[in-house]
Amino acid sequence: MGKPRILVVDDSKLSAKMIEDRLAASGFQVDVAFSAEEAIANLSTPDAVLPDLVISDVVMPGMDGYQFCQWLRGNPATVHIPVIMLTSKGGVSAKVDGFQAGADDYLVKPVDPVELEMRIKVLLARMKAAQATAGRTMDASQARIISVFSLRGGVGVTSVAVNLAVALAQLWQTEVPLVDLALESGHCALMLDLKPKHSLADLADRGPEAIDDALLDGVLIRHDSGVRVLSAPPSPELADTITPTLVGTVLTMLQPQFPYLVVDTPSSFDEVTLAALDQSDVIVLLLTPEIACLKVTTAALD
Ligand SMILES: Nc1ncnc2c1ncn2[C@@H]1O[C@H](COP(=O)(O)OP(=O)(O)O)[C@@H](O)[C@H]1O
Ligand SMILES: [Mg+2]
Repeated sequence: MGKPRILVVDDSKLSAKMIEDRLAASGFQVDVAFSAEEAIANLSTPDAVLPDLVISDVVMPGMDGYQFCQWLRGNPATVHIPVIMLTSKGGVSAKVDGFQAGADDYLVKPVDPVELEMRIKVLLARMKAAQATAGRTMDASQARIISVFSLRGGVGVTSVAVNLAVALAQLWQTEVPLVDLALESGHCALMLDLKPKHSLADLADRGPEAIDDALLDGVLIRHDSGVRVLSAPPSPELADTITPTLVGTVLTMLQPQFPYLVVDTPSSFDEVTLAALDQSDVIVLLLTPEIACLKVTTAALD
């Protein structure tokens, strides 16, 4: 691996030069831009070599450091690059503005060079660790199936399942199916303010053999977050039509198409739930600090 590449953006030539010399002496490859506009022009060329980290001044003529940071965060190619704001603008509200613009760190000049170097190294190390984890999870050709479960009702299983699906979709900028197996009282769609026109019952009508990718895609209701809800049947009496085989087929078909699947479950060990738990890579078992809940959780673990 080559030297980490750092882009310094500062309208003061003297300040830029001081940072550049210092970082170059510490073994970094340093690029300098004297305005946010210049940096953006360089980063936007088709053959641009992206930096591993950006150090930006805040007060600059034209586009300021906050706007520049927002541009970086709004651009898919640069959204993950760590940004340190280095500025003479002190005060809590300036820092808050910096963090709100998407900065990872905020240092007030004059900064101790040793401290600057340490903060750069910490951010680079964290970035590298995050990329390694992302590579491991996202390279997997099969979705990880995450089921959320509790034998006690009302502890927040559905809330956690819905929030987990939304968080995964947003974190990885991908679609995440949320399969609602609380067949008699499912309300994943309701929690996302969706009015489902389709549900698992549509699939049960056709039978497991007749399900293809197009049919499955049609019943996964889209939410703006990227979550795709496979809703529970619209009425409780249809719950019986959903068989363990059907659910097994659906999970198996969805698995190669997405990095994650989240499953919301009812608070019982019915056959459909057991089939889903069996197929899960991760089971999130929820409990609240009450004796009754501890008792059923112990039973569930057994
Ligand atoms: N962390 C929480 N704090 C407060 N209320 C919560 C929390 N999680 C869930 N709830 C509320 O508790 C109720 C039951 O939540 P739900 O997710 O439907 O539980 P379950 O699926 O386990 O039955 C809902 O009214 C929900 O809004
Ligand atoms: Mg629930």
